[in-house]
Order: sequence, then C-alpha cells, then structure tokens
Amino acid sequence: MTSAPFPNRPRVDAREKVLGAARYAADVAVPGMLYAMQVPATIAKGRVTGLSTDAAMRIAGVVRVLTATDFPPPPPGGAGGPPPPATITDDIAYRGQPVALVVADSLEAAIEGAEAIRPTYAAVDFTATIDDKGAVTQPVEPTRGGDAEKAMARAVTRHKADYVSPAQHHNPIEMLSTTAVWENGVLTVYEGTQGSNMVKGALMRTLRLTAEQVVVKSPQVGGGFGQKGGPQRQTALVARAAMLLGRPVKLVVPRGQVFHNATFRPKNRHRIEIGADAAGRMIAVRYDADQQQSRAGQFPPAYHESPPMMYGIPDYDGTAANIRIDTQAPGYMRAPTPHPASFAFDSAVDELAVELGVDPLDFRLRHRATRDPIDDKPFSTCFLNECLIEGARRFGWKGRPIAPGMMVRPDGTQVGWGVGCGAYPANVHPTIATLRVGADGRTRFAAAGHEMGQGIRSTIEQVLIRELAIDPAGLEIAIGDTSVAPQHVTAGSWGTASAVTAAEQAAVRLKATMADLLAGRTPGGNLHRQLAAVRRPSVEIEVTTVGPGQGEKEIARLRQGGMAVSGPVFPQFTSFSYIAHFVEVHVEPHTRRIRVPRVVSVADCGRVISPRTAESQVRGGVVWGISACLREATEVDPRYGGWLNNDLADYVVAVNADIGEIDVGFVDRPDDLFNSLGAKGLGEVAMTGCAAAVANAVYHATGKRLREMPFRVEALL
Ligand code: MOS
Repeated sequence: MTSAPFPNRPRVDAREKVLGAARYAADVAVPGMLYAMQVPATIAKGRVTGLSTDAAMRIAGVVRVLTATDFPPPPPGGAGGPPPPATITDDIAYRGQPVALVVADSLEAAIEGAEAIRPTYAAVDFTATIDDKGAVTQPVEPTRGGDAEKAMARAVTRHKADYVSPAQHHNPIEMLSTTAVWENGVLTVYEGTQGSNMVKGALMRTLRLTAEQVVVKSPQVGGGFGQKGGPQRQTALVARAAMLLGRPVKLVVPRGQVFHNATFRPKNRHRIEIGADAAGRMIAVRYDADQQQSRAGQFPPAYHESPPMMYGIPDYDGTAANIRIDTQAPGYMRAPTPHPASFAFDSAVDELAVELGVDPLDFRLRHRATRDPIDDKPFSTCFLNECLIEGARRFGWKGRPIAPGMMVRPDGTQVGWGVGCGAYPANVHPTIATLRVGADGRTRFAAAGHEMGQGIRSTIEQVLIRELAIDPAGLEIAIGDTSVAPQHVTAGSWGTASAVTAAEQAAVRLKATMADLLAGRTPGGNLHRQLAAVRRPSVEIEVTTVGPGQGEKEIARLRQGGMAVSGPVFPQFTSFSYIAHFVEVHVEPHTRRIRVPRVVSVADCGRVISPRTAESQVRGGVVWGISACLREATEVDPRYGGWLNNDLADYVVAVNADIGEIDVGFVDRPDDLFNSLGAKGLGEVAMTGCAAAVANAVYHATGKRLREMPFRVEALL
C-alpha cells in the first residue's frame, strides 16, 4: 500500500519553543546543586607530573577537586570493544584534555578554582598537522565495483584533480552539558545528547554501575549535528563528582572547551579521476581520499559512501586512509563524509562536463543511476533526476550560457549559476514502541528518538493523528529517555524512518485492540470517548519494528542498549536519499567577496512526513553548506597543537547577511520497498552537494575553479 502525502502542519513544539518554555538538559535545576568546571591541559602531549589542589580549595565555595585518582581504573577493554571511557588521566593525548574537575557552590567559584590549578607537565614531541613528520598513514579497506582500471583505459576524456576540505567544528547553540543526580544508588543524568543509551552505557562501564542504576534523559537537544552522538568527555566526570559528593552537579562546557574536547570534522583530501567515453558518458572513477585522525580515533574515512550512488558509473575504485596525529578524536558532523566527498566529486563531475562542453545539468541528467555499483544491487528508489528537473524549473536554469564569465552586472559583479548534487544512505534502526490511549483524553507514545530541532516529534505526531482519532492536544511523545524505551543513537538520518514506521504499526495494533475491545459495539466519538463509553480507563500496546532484512538479533541488540542500525545496503536493494541544489552566486568586482543570494534545493527523501520540519531541515542544510564552503575552518597553530580559533568570533559561521532566498522542494514519492510509509532520511542529505553547487557557480561566474574549502576572497583575487 502506498502512503498518501501528509499535510503541512506546525511543529508540535513550535509554541513551546517560541515561548522559551521548552526545557533543555541544562535548564534542569535541582535543589542543592553544585557547579563544575574542567581544567584543560596546556600541553599537546605528555603527562601530568604534579597537580596541587591547594590553591583551588582555598577559594571560597570550592568543595572538591577531582583528579585522576578519583576514578576507578579503566575496565579491561578487549579488542573491538567500546573505546576506553573518558575520565581524567595523567596521560595527555591532546591540548585541552581535562586534567581536573573543580566543583563549587557557585559557577563563579568553580571557574575561579579551575583557573587556580596549575599542573606541572612532562611534555613530549607531538604532531599537530597531517603534513608533519610523525603523522602515520593507515589505509582502510578500498571501495570497489567493476574494474575501474580497465574502464579508465577505455576513456576518451579524463579529468583529474585534488580537492581539500578543512577541519571544522560543530557549533550548536546549546553547548555540551551534563547535570548529574545521585540518589538512593541511582544516577540520573540530564544531558543534551543524541544517544542517551550510549551515554548510559559509557557511565555503566566507567563508573562500574548496573543498568538499573543509570537513567539518562535528553528531553530536547539544542542542535546535535553528530557532536552529541555519544558520551562526552565531561559526562563521567560530572557523574563521578555527584556520586562522590552526594549532591547534584552541573557542568555547562564553555565553547572554547567544546572546540577542544568534542569531536570535529577532520581535514580531508580527495584525488579524483573520472573518465568518459566517446559518447560523453562517465564510465570510470579512481578516487583516493584521506583524512586527519587522532592516534586512537575510530571515525571511519567513509568518503566512498555517496559518490558511486549518484550517476550510475559502473566501474569505481576508491581508496581511503586515516592520517593519525595528536588531536582529540574526530567524529560525525552533519553529512560526515558525504558533504566533503560530494563537494569534491560533484565539482569533478562539473569540471568534466565543462571539458566536454556539455551543460552541467544535461550532463547529470544523462547519468540516471539505477544500481549500486559497489554491492551490485538495484536502488529501491532514486529520484535524483526528478530533483534536477524540478530544481531547474524552479530556478530558471534554461538559457544559462555554458561559458563562464558571461553574466556580468553593470557594476562589474560577476554572476554565476551552478548545480550540485548529493546522496546520503537511507538507514533504519529497530524500534520498540509503546502506545497508550486513555479515556481521559490522553495519549502517550514512547519510543527511541532524540529531538534535536529536526522535528522527530512532529513526524511521529503526523502519523499518529492521521491514523488514530485522538486528541492531539493530549498527545505526549516520550523519547530521548532511557527509562521510557530502549534508545538508539538518533543520527545517520535514520530517526524518521525508524520512528514513523513504529508509530504507524502501533496505530494499526491499537486499532485492532480497540476493535476487539468494542466487540461490535459502535460508541461514537474519538478513541478517548469510545474508551469512556465502554468504561475502560486505557488501552496499551507494544510494537517492535525492524528494517528490511532485520530480525531478532537486531532487536536483542537494541534491548541491550547497542547499535543495530542497518542500511543503506539491504538484502534485496540499496537505498539512498538524494538532493539537487541550484545556486546563484555574485562575486563582487573589487573585494571578490562571494555572495549567495538565491538557492533552489529539491530533495528525494521518499515520502515527506512533516512538510514543515522537512523544509526547515533542507533550509538548515543549505545554510550550513554555504557556511561550510565560504566561512568555516578550524586552524591549528603547529607550535602548540590544539585549536587556535576556538570561539565564534574567530571561527566564522554564516550569519543572516550571508543567506538569501532558499526555495525548497520535494519529489515526495514514497520508497515502498524501504518501509510502509515510504520515508527515507533527510537531515543529512540536505547538506550534501551544496558546497559543490557553490563552487560550480563560482566557476560559472569567474572561470576560476576553487578546489579547497573554505573559498576565501584571496582565491579569487
Ligand atoms: Mo549525524 S552527523 O549522523 O548526527
């Protein structure tokens, strides 16, 4: 059965958020609360040789300083097990790593106490950048489909170039924070996280607690973007402090420390060669990628996730490598590898189109993808061409001169139009959901999921109120809480597909239960009234949903708090979401400043569940795409390691003045193979391909090809 389109309704938490009434983890206030501040290491690598807490303890209000000796020794970690939990250790792996935690009656005293601690160190040589000696290159498994070498030999036209993407840091408005309460042997942690179960698991391992002893609550997240995907450096420190002191402790990590301790998008480099045959068809890709990596980091250099899935190129040969240096672990940041890979790859595709003298839109359209060339499976759906056609129509692409530098305004401003595409894996996670409808007018749906602004509660509501005659005002959607349901990490754009299928199944099951209960009786009104009419306080059902090809094994893993995500390769097919961005840039004649007054983005995310939040997701992705290619880069001072521009004054992000009109459209055709509602993911595909579209537009405006992000004015002088 194919699902019908959903109506455009306001987000469920719109009013709450506008009123400032939405409660985030750091808003939690508990009587008797203490405040904490971390002391960051001031060396890039080495050991703490001495740490006196005397000066800090003399400050009025400071109650305790936690150091390395306050933590249980790390549990024995087998190979392939979870990474060692973050506590305080005397070994320093990167600048900014916490060496102590000061706890005080007030935030001011905690800050003053942290500043009073001056450890002594034994510093050793370190490697600050991937070009330094001391950087260790470690290749990972290659990504291959067909025989690219053979196909490349047949190519008539070849384009080969290098592309670079800088280290970047997520800067959600909500900073990292942990509030921990230790009461009657139970640790309750409030933390804005995308992975409340991951946080719970890390706390259990680090602090030697049982599953019954840890509850993690993440009621609302003020921006996740992958930064909040797992336990944070400070989480166990704050929890330990609460346990040792028997009082609640809160830490809001200052932004400068977020730069040094949270994960980040590592610098990455791409060498791409694409070959085309005599008919102008892309037939072969050779692509080598590498990335900055910490000594022990595990973020995979998965740069070949998306490029093979976009244009039906049968022969693909990709390599990837980590380059290990002394930094904190990099990690997932919105469209983690597909964003930089699509910048590189879709720039290269554009360059090849230019070499062939073909309009870049037509060039892409003649490469409709139907199969995954790596795993040799058909796509469940791929409507990239539909995105391109609709985007071009909305943008007014027709009549665009092929040659660059042809559109110049009277004041000398160069105007360019570019197109760029992206793809992102469609993933799904098993879900266990309970649904209770009461005669009192209330409904409660509890499942996995974290609300980080993307609108997961709104998608769940859309499905429940379409399927069930319930009062939307009485609907509670309980997610992001390890005490209400097993929680997955809400990331990888699998939130919607996982949650809405569970909501739909729950609704179906509930309706069946109601029918049994009514046994032919037909009391009028909504479900609440019907329950009241038959004197039944409530009905409750539980459902378990899995992705294609998943079963008991994955459900068991979810119940144990583990990751059980599947996709994009399923037994019968491969699934991706797609997007096409059309961008107009203006390059000012004297300053060479690049402006982006106009963007049209059309996405294929399968069935759109919540048009309002979906549109908002794409807009946000485009804003970040523009910001990522025109503004954002985190700089390292090789003399000291760590990050130089660790605040929002020096780490420049796009602001309102940088953003013009963004017109968002959707193909809105369901992917019936992927799930019953036909919904694929959207949050991350939104950003992919946008940077390439800007680069391609800059080329069209100026004739100059920019292959390194961010695009600085000096590159166009
Ligand atoms: Mo996303 S970077 O997978 O939270």
